[in-house]
Amino acid sequence: MSLNIELLESSFLQIKPQETEFMAHFYKTLFADYPEVKPLFANTHMGKQAKQLFKSLVMVVENLRNPDVLSNALQGLGTRHVKYGVLPEHYPMVGSTLLKTFSIYLGSTWTPNTEQAWIEAYTVVTELMLSGTDYSSKILTPHAQQV
Ligand code: HEM
Repeated sequence: MSLNIELLESSFLQIKPQETEFMAHFYKTLFADYPEVKPLFANTHMGKQAKQLFKSLVMVVENLRNPDVLSNALQGLGTRHVKYGVLPEHYPMVGSTLLKTFSIYLGSTWTPNTEQAWIEAYTVVTELMLSGTDYSSKILTPHAQQV
């Protein structure tokens, strides 16, 4: 899969000046659509968290042409997310909320091509983050003990 880098870059440029509103809308929508993830953020400073998530989106878009940098950063991020209690099934929830928020803040420039570009980018981000984790061994352990 080759990402549509130009479209990802140009659409994200439009989001950048709207960072605060974009992030506030993102978390509001995430918690409204998926209340089950709210407890994961019980002890989180949401203002700080919003800035960190946005910074990592900037990092992703700035390194679309540097796959090694992207892989290292996202694998590490994925590993840390295990400690935050995040499970693989939570990733599509964040993905659909991100896309929904992009569609609102990009307005008329949210075209089927832009949507496709972000679906593919989020798929790659998820794969790289999950490649830094070992959820399968957690699931297999109880069965292994029964044998
Ligand atoms: C595109 C995927 C994601 C990105 C880029 C991302 C980015 C980040 C970043 C940059 C942090 C700050 C801490 C750190 O760097 O380790 C963070 C923390 C966190 N993220 Fe994510 N995240 C993603 C997916 C998810 C998902 C799917 C969930 C679950 C709903 C989630 C829940 C959390 C939680 C609970 C924290 C910890 C907050 C705390 O410190 O209390 N994230 N995320």
